[in-house]
Amino acid sequence: MALLALTGASGRIATALRPRLRATGHRLVLCDAPGVTVAEPDPTFERTVACDVRDVEGQAEAFAGADLVVHLAAYADERSWPDILSVNIDGTRAVCEAARLAGVGRLLLASSVHAAGYVPVGSPLATDGMPLPAPDTYYGVSKAALEALGALYAGRFGMTVVSARIMNFDDSPGGPRSLQAWLSPDDMARLVLATLTTDATGHHVVWGVSRNTRRSVDLRPGLAVGFDPQDDAEAYACGVQERDPSLPPKLLGGAFADPGYRLGVPHGGTQPG
Ligand SMILES: NC(=O)c1ccc[n+]([C@@H]2O[C@H](COP(=O)([O-])OP(=O)(O)OC[C@H]3O[C@@H](n4cnc5c(N)ncnc54)[C@H](O)[C@@H]3O)[C@@H](O)[C@H]2O)c1
Repeated sequence: MALLALTGASGRIATALRPRLRATGHRLVLCDAPGVTVAEPDPTFERTVACDVRDVEGQAEAFAGADLVVHLAAYADERSWPDILSVNIDGTRAVCEAARLAGVGRLLLASSVHAAGYVPVGSPLATDGMPLPAPDTYYGVSKAALEALGALYAGRFGMTVVSARIMNFDDSPGGPRSLQAWLSPDDMARLVLATLTTDATGHHVVWGVSRNTRRSVDLRPGLAVGFDPQDDAEAYACGVQERDPSLPPKLLGGAFADPGYRLGVPHGGTQPG
């Protein structure tokens, strides 16, 4: 059984991952900021560490012996440039450096569709391979930087790094965009386990998306690292369309890429990113 270290352990994605990873018998080190409570750790499988994401030494200690670091800690929304620079960009550098110091060979970094938010839905850029970054916000810029740091640590230190452009993580699809973009909790767990076991080396940017019938992006980059998503938002399509019959957005970034959307101002968490 493996040891996995998670940053952002009290967040939405980590909270959904924990029971799924425990069920596979893996042990977890759950890192989150001092003062943040990680709910109900299971002492058989889990250990909590209070550590800021920018603390290299503290995280290197926390990651000791881990087979994989899953880096989820971030401002998961648009924020002021100083906040984004500090937590999302400096924080990701600190996580990569801590993993290197701890001798961890594998990293899964939570990127976002907003690293490529200006890519048009349905364009070959989206449907055929992986587009270059086209960030739609400061938040998206931080995820492009995260991918660059992943490439740096893979290239320079021989680590296996997967940067996943997570599209729309949720228990179930909530709106028209998510019929294309949904990433289910079970598929997120599949992505973690693929990164833990892949034979692929180097840095890989993949889409964090389920096998949705209406998906607008290419599954092949993920399949190349063994990420084979199984869930399909189509099973929820009738309910979603009854609640919200509007058309999905024309750009991958959705509302974040809207010209009326202000840089540096939080969206408020209503638009999963
Ligand atoms: N939820 C989605 O649909 C989605 C989509 C794309 C990308 N992502 C990315 O996935 C990751 C996890 O998303 P989530 O929805 O669970 O986010 P979340 O906001 O629920 O959790 C973020 C976590 O980061 C922690 N954190 C923030 N600042 C920190 C600091 N200074 N030190 C240590 N920890 C700190 C928070 O305490 C929290 O536990 C994020 O990086 C996010 O950008 C999420």
